[in-house]
Amino acid sequence: MEYNNIVVQVKEGIATITFNRPEILNALNEEALKEFSNALDEIHANEDIRVLILTGAGEKSFIAGADIKQFLTFNTLKAKLFSEMGRVLMNKLQELPIPVIAAVNGFALGGGCEVAMACDFIYASENAMFGLPEITLGIIPGFGGTQRLPRLVGVSMAKELIFTGKMIPAQEAKNMGLANKVCSQEQLMDDVIKTAKTIASKGKVSLRAAKQAINNGMNVDLTTGCRMEIDAFALCFTSPDVKEGALAFLEKRTPDFKGSLKE
Ligand code: COA
Repeated sequence: MEYNNIVVQVKEGIATITFNRPEILNALNEEALKEFSNALDEIHANEDIRVLILTGAGEKSFIAGADIKQFLTFNTLKAKLFSEMGRVLMNKLQELPIPVIAAVNGFALGGGCEVAMACDFIYASENAMFGLPEITLGIIPGFGGTQRLPRLVGVSMAKELIFTGKMIPAQEAKNMGLANKVCSQEQLMDDVIKTAKTIASKGKVSLRAAKQAINNGMNVDLTTGCRMEIDAFALCFTSPDVKEGALAFLEKRTPDFKGSLKE
């Protein structure tokens, strides 16, 4: 599918969505959000895609947030509908059954930080800046930022960041557990693709089961989460990949996982 605000590429089972409005630092207007949602549906439906990477066009920004111009036309109802659209979209991203890596190559502000937080993990370039600056605009984060940030970095740190609206550099984001890794700008995509390839080489069913167990378990108590893990563990045995994994270990070779979701 052709899009105006994003570019979707698929290579060797790894899909990349690039937010592509560099002239406004890849800020998201409604059309961009709809295209992003459609692209996620397309990727969800394609069994050959094993990992998704999100990044921004240009050298300066991942996503600088929602397009601030549109707020001038909002009333309360429109704001509610916009935030609800964001909630549905961030959930769609978080619940995509395949692993999603955010390659944050510059500003990840407001909605951009919220998109990155709805991914499974973040690699950031040295020049990346993270923040939820909505308070400076007289609003608050509306795409899940007040909920996901405290879960990732703790309540006190999230409150400081949201109440001040300040931006933090990549290394600080890593130190507080928001980003997994900081890379030089030139190295970022190579490092992300290397990790994506490692993940893509694993079994389709087990990857999905692992993501499902972790995501669902984070919303419940430990005992319930561990019970959910039992079902996810058992699900792996619907795939011939289990036999391949065990045989490859015993035969001292690399497993060749070919399992299909249709088995
Ligand atoms: N919405 C709309 N336009 C945006 C934008 C946004 N979220 N973020 C940046 N832009 C536009 C700027 O208006 C500017 O457009 P112009 O060239 O027509 O003036 C262009 O992108 C470049 O941004 P600029 O501010 O000149 O770059 P900078 O390097 O000086 O500053 C930022 C970069 C990210 C610090 C600054 O653009 C910023 O604070 N953006 C808003 C971030 C924000 O509050 N996001 C949350 C929104 S809810």
